[in-house]
Amino acid sequence: GMIPVELTVNGREVHLQLDPRTTLLDALREHLHLTGTKKGCDQGQCGACTVIVEGRRINSCLTLAVMHDGDKVTTIEGLGTPDALHPMQRAFITHDGYQCGYCTPGQICSAVAVLEEIAAGIPSHVTGDLNQVALSDHELRERMSGNICRCAAYPNIIAAMNDVAG
Ligand code: FES
Repeated sequence: GMIPVELTVNGREVHLQLDPRTTLLDALREHLHLTGTKKGCDQGQCGACTVIVEGRRINSCLTLAVMHDGDKVTTIEGLGTPDALHPMQRAFITHDGYQCGYCTPGQICSAVAVLEEIAAGIPSHVTGDLNQVALSDHELRERMSGNICRCAAYPNIIAAMNDVAG
């Protein structure tokens, strides 16, 4: 049977009736028609589906929507408006942080969350490092390593993040 799921997506409360096997990614794309979040691999390897849930970035293809009942979800559509882009969106344009653009929504969601993680003192899950004083490209690259870009825009993505980090 279907299960009721309530989410706050980009500040808007939504009530869904979902097959419990529905991933958060499919709930966003197929049920809420928020197609900014992309499906690349659908198995947790590319990061195209990255969204921010309760302040932390996750691969939305790897989690079920029912597990997020009551949660706040931010997608690329919630990060800015066409008139007032989010600073990270502006920086990606300024620094050419994309080519084909398919990975870009996930890259931007991840980049926004990475700077928040660092500001909040959350160490890297891989290296255990936290260096808020001198934010190194190495640390940013490591933290962004779950977001694959087939066009290899990586240096420009790091430049955009450094720009926003100040
Ligand atoms: Fe989720 Fe690739 S679509 S990680």
